[in-house]
Amino acid sequence: MTTGWVLTDPPTVPALTPYDLRCEHLAEPLGIGSARPRLSWRLASPVRGDRQEAFRVRVERDGVQVWDSGWRSEQATSVDHGGAPLTSLTDYTWHLEVRDAAGAATGASATFATGIFHPGEWQARWIEHDYETEPPFEPPVDKVEPRSERSATLAAPRYLRRSFDLPAPVVRARVYATAHGLYQLNANGRRVGADELTPGWTDYRYRVAYQTYDVTDLLHEGENVLGAVLAEGWWSGYVGWDTRSQAHHYGKRPRLLAQLVVDHPDGTRTVIGTDAGWLERTGPLRFADLLMGESYDARLELGDWSSPGHVLGQGWERAGEAGADVSTVVAASTEPVRVMEDLPAVSVDRRGPGRYVVDLGQNVAGRIRLRIRGAAAGDRIRLRHAEMLESDGEVYTANLRTADATDYYVSAGADEETFEPAFTVHGFRYVEVDGYPGDLTTADVTGRVLHSDTPVAGRFECSDPGVNRLLGNIRWGQRGNFVSVPTDCPQRDERLGWTADAQIFLPTAAYQADVQTFFANWLEDLAVAQTPDGAVPDVIPHLITGRHGTPAWSDAATIVPWTLYRSYGDERVLRQAWPSMRRWVDFVHTANPGLIWRNRTGGHYGDWLQVGVCTDRDVLATAYFARSAELTAATARVLGLRDEAAAYGELRDRIAAAFVAEFVDAEGKVRGDTQTGYLLPLAFGLLPEDLEQEAVKHLVADLERRDRSLTTGFAGVALLCPVLAGYGQLELAYDLLHDDRYPSWGYSIRHGATTIWERWDGWTEEQGFGPVAMNSFNHYSLGSVGEWLYSGVAGIDQAPSSVAFRDLVIRPRPGGRLDWAQAAYDTPSGRVTTRWEVADGTVKLDVGVPPGTTATVHVPTADPTSVRESDRPVAGQEEIDVLGPADGVLVCRVASGRYRFAADA
Ligand code: BGC
Repeated sequence: MTTGWVLTDPPTVPALTPYDLRCEHLAEPLGIGSARPRLSWRLASPVRGDRQEAFRVRVERDGVQVWDSGWRSEQATSVDHGGAPLTSLTDYTWHLEVRDAAGAATGASATFATGIFHPGEWQARWIEHDYETEPPFEPPVDKVEPRSERSATLAAPRYLRRSFDLPAPVVRARVYATAHGLYQLNANGRRVGADELTPGWTDYRYRVAYQTYDVTDLLHEGENVLGAVLAEGWWSGYVGWDTRSQAHHYGKRPRLLAQLVVDHPDGTRTVIGTDAGWLERTGPLRFADLLMGESYDARLELGDWSSPGHVLGQGWERAGEAGADVSTVVAASTEPVRVMEDLPAVSVDRRGPGRYVVDLGQNVAGRIRLRIRGAAAGDRIRLRHAEMLESDGEVYTANLRTADATDYYVSAGADEETFEPAFTVHGFRYVEVDGYPGDLTTADVTGRVLHSDTPVAGRFECSDPGVNRLLGNIRWGQRGNFVSVPTDCPQRDERLGWTADAQIFLPTAAYQADVQTFFANWLEDLAVAQTPDGAVPDVIPHLITGRHGTPAWSDAATIVPWTLYRSYGDERVLRQAWPSMRRWVDFVHTANPGLIWRNRTGGHYGDWLQVGVCTDRDVLATAYFARSAELTAATARVLGLRDEAAAYGELRDRIAAAFVAEFVDAEGKVRGDTQTGYLLPLAFGLLPEDLEQEAVKHLVADLERRDRSLTTGFAGVALLCPVLAGYGQLELAYDLLHDDRYPSWGYSIRHGATTIWERWDGWTEEQGFGPVAMNSFNHYSLGSVGEWLYSGVAGIDQAPSSVAFRDLVIRPRPGGRLDWAQAAYDTPSGRVTTRWEVADGTVKLDVGVPPGTTATVHVPTADPTSVRESDRPVAGQEEIDVLGPADGVLVCRVASGRYRFAADA
């Protein structure tokens, strides 16, 4: 099932109503790892000024209440389970009631289930192919088995099965499973769940997540079979640019761990775990690797191998047991990767006999489903994936570096066959199909889009198609790179969790999707990877590069938890991250007692991929040092750590002063005189007021000198539009947004981009393709302007002291080529919406504010006295508090509800 990743609307309701109930921020999760989970909900109401006066949560198990919060008069839309710690392996239902101002109550219910809490509850043992009795790598089956030199080193995936009898009917059956490697489960011949690339990527040295699936409907009394396919994945396959000899990052052999727990009507339980009772062998999958691709020989299919009654052929042997150490096994805490959308092919270009280039029309992360008709047994089809075409129409694969991104299928000779890889993912828009029998048509090819199933949270549209395309490309950049962890790119031999890319894009990502658990999960890997002296590696999960402690990269340690807290309001993320945050700032401080960050700068990439300028590295580093100290101080304040808050706050002020003393002259010129050099201190508030305006002038002068052209790289680009707009340079911000000359966002769009390119010169009219050593066409960092589309153009933001958007600031910015813009965003309280439109001398502004929150609305107008709401004067309206005119706007404070402002433009 695929969703297309669209925003679902809240329910239309007659009165205050809770919806979207979550447990541990997940919808009806099975197998949560916490005995005191957080329960949360959103609210909808058509009534102005509506708010939840009180709520009550009751948690029950088998109809027996285990906790009653009682009525609580709090505004919160989340609460931690406050009863006795929950029991493992148990289903719970929770009932929520909310009461509005008038005392009327409505309710909603949801379920969740706990997972395995105690290591002792794992009866299963890790199992693997018994390499003691077998050579580790299988020789090719015959000469047609296609392998590149690199894929030749990959071991064939294993097929595992266990037949067992259930003595009684099944009331409830759950399977808890994970792998060192990648796994897919079957039960009685049917696929279990729809998750892909499980167990996902975590720092396997410390933790590997188990997934929980309900298999009640797949099992029955009598003989049953559990089956699994096990591939290498991040565990022992290729990740990053390492050669195979350096690979096997976490281990050499894939392993499976699975435990089935079946409840019978009489209250008894049957537990079946992986152990030496399982059988295993190779099958049609000859190799499967995230970077190299997959090879499937349909002639070797095993029939109904995971069904009861299957007569075992030769080749099945006992699985080897590989220990029972489950100390690193933890419950999955974030949404899995799934097939999120199917894209039909838009064109097929015949390039030669049996050779075609197919265009999906969109650069994605995923794979192809191919229909094959009329092939003879042994016919071999090769699929090569590419983001771009050469000028002669052939696929451009040079930028993939050592990633083969090539799948193979060997036909069994059936009338019709379907091939879809299972354990790989490619970043591509085009696929070359070679060796296809007969005529390939668009109907034979489907693009299957894969990414983490983070719930969509936002939507933005405006009157300018170019800006909409930009937002679309940013969205696709997010989808292509949120694959279990936030990656830099999905295509070449990298796909790593580069920390700067993640922190720079997070504010944009959080407007588009609920990425709370996605990043909280990643932060756990960040904390464990910190060096003993506190440095944060450049890529998380930590792998490949020995570099750590890089300005703007390692600062993800403070920026990511703080941004999550600000967006979602769950203090737990700060509590968990606090030691890591302070250790990081202390690391930089210890190495740089003079407060200018020059020492221990790790890989120091500066303003990565800036154009034509070189922002001073000490300027960039020191600005980030101040920022990290500030966020650490802010975190200490939230956590009630007074002394630490004072100490880090004071440190931040001293760094800011040192920054000014060292880098800023009396005219407000920042050393290096580059756009990013100004943007950083302005965005981070490092300059005294008098120098601020001067710095803005220099920034504007630089832009004007360059005919309003940007020079920013990863670190500066997100700040351009917000800083310019924030300092009265809105039209300049819009000029950059609309620009389509090189370098600009519009340039790539004019040349057909469907995702954000890694570099401004990914492809240019003069040079063609940019430097092949590093030229991804799906890198989200330069797309971090997306945040401003939501917060600036559509105007959905929150007050500096607000968290979880409880104190909204609605400040849309009509301008540029736009006649209208609109956005919707799901805050933790509920949906906020804005829509503005300028036509015939009138500006209209529609605002929807979720229950229990307030909004400061800046109504744009040339004449504040002309502002009306729902055709009535604003003054005197009960839910509107007019704060007064300011700089082209009338500022009003409104309670929750829907408001329709109109004024003279
Ligand atoms: C990655 C970047 C990353 C950078 C560090 C590149 O290879 O793709 O996105 O942040 O290295 O300089």
